[in-house]
Amino acid sequence: MEQYIINGGVPLKGEVEIGGAKNAALAILAAAIMTDEDVVIENLPDVRDVNVMIQAIGAIGGSVVHLNRHTVRINGFGIGKLSLDYEYIKKIRASYYLLGALLGKYKQAEVALPGGCDIGSRPIDQHLKGFRALGAEAGVRHGKITAHASHLHGSHIYMDVVSVGATINVMMAAAMADGNTILENAAKEPHVVDVANFLNSMGANIKGAGTDVIRIKGVPKLHKTEYSIIPDQIEAGTFMFAAAATKGDITVKNVIPKHLEATSAKLVEIGCRVEEMDDAVRVCATERLGYTQVKTLPYPGFPTDMQPQMAVVLGLSNGMSTITESIFENRFRYVDELHRLGGDIKVEGNIAIINGVEEYTGAEVCAPDLRAGAALVIAGLAASGKTIIDDIVYIQRGYEDFEKKLRQLGGRIKIVKTEKEMKQYQYHTA
Ligand code: EPZ
Repeated sequence: MEQYIINGGVPLKGEVEIGGAKNAALAILAAAIMTDEDVVIENLPDVRDVNVMIQAIGAIGGSVVHLNRHTVRINGFGIGKLSLDYEYIKKIRASYYLLGALLGKYKQAEVALPGGCDIGSRPIDQHLKGFRALGAEAGVRHGKITAHASHLHGSHIYMDVVSVGATINVMMAAAMADGNTILENAAKEPHVVDVANFLNSMGANIKGAGTDVIRIKGVPKLHKTEYSIIPDQIEAGTFMFAAAATKGDITVKNVIPKHLEATSAKLVEIGCRVEEMDDAVRVCATERLGYTQVKTLPYPGFPTDMQPQMAVVLGLSNGMSTITESIFENRFRYVDELHRLGGDIKVEGNIAIINGVEEYTGAEVCAPDLRAGAALVIAGLAASGKTIIDDIVYIQRGYEDFEKKLRQLGGRIKIVKTEKEMKQYQYHTA
């Protein structure tokens, strides 16, 4: 398994271009098959999850042509298979977005049930509730989620839980149902809005995305479009926390500052200088940062996908902080790894109690999941001495050229791929 080797202690300084949002791209790629005409999608991040989704679309008969590293042309005309094999959902849960897309277009879909996940149980009951409300028979049989309807009709649906995935999946199916759908208690994340805007560019009629009531007037057909994915606010936030943790000065470019407000507000609260420009945000930290309390919430609250990164920064702050993880039940798996770097953090239920330490010291750690892995890289860059990070495949799922971008900011990080190279860097106990 590839590793990152980091020599920490250097403040990260400079500018970094942020790529397209992975979590918008995954849904938009699925939605692109809802027309039989050509769809061109730009600003796609070149990350593993996106490439798996592209393979999944090919596997069911969709055509995907790369026009360049970040642009594809998709055509759903050739789709002949309405069932997606387990191998894809095993790699990325988000391939279940093909359920809503296929059900909307063909009134039939079958996708393997996502298995367990690193950060929590992640049920799909709200997805099924929405499909059933639209008139589909939906359920789980032999490890597969099946949904089919002779006729999809509009409905008034109240989501029991604010769910990004369920909001997007049901919105896709409702976009091609007969009649009007009202989706209440909908998720408001920027990527939900991006999917709605994308569907509208294909001729759908969706209003209110970004609020908790989305109104959808179903249309019989969708048409071709060209669309560019919004910037990835989680990638941007990850670099903002890297500036805070290393006492650096980083400007994240090609972002939508409004999407980063909860993150910027917390960084200001603990003593960072944050400057917002039209499509960039600059974060500068010179002194030791202060403590705070954080609770993860659906957008526009503090994002759960930034929780591990926040914990790493607070782990170096002056004082005691708490982080309450209210979205997922198992998103503190990085804490034991942070202990190895000298962090002083205790988890009680869904609350992490963090006593800031003067410094982290390098060690060998494992990335437990995507965002926790990125957080451990930040901790290694802040730590004195060498840090080795195993299982970086998790990180590569959601960050394009992560080590290259960090090196451009002065970070001493390299990727090693072979056993021979790893031996060279292995920790030698005295
Ligand atoms: C999306 O996951 C993101 N993934 C996650 O990002 C992100 O952490 C999450 O939204 C929250 O913002 C993608 O977009 C591909 P949810 P999703 O449905 O849609 C419960 C990353 O790092 N729930 O909003 O699966 C669920 O258990 C990933 O990029 C139900 O109870 O999240 C959770 O407690 C990690 N029933 C809460 O809702 C359901 O039917 C929020 O989950 C669905 C969800």
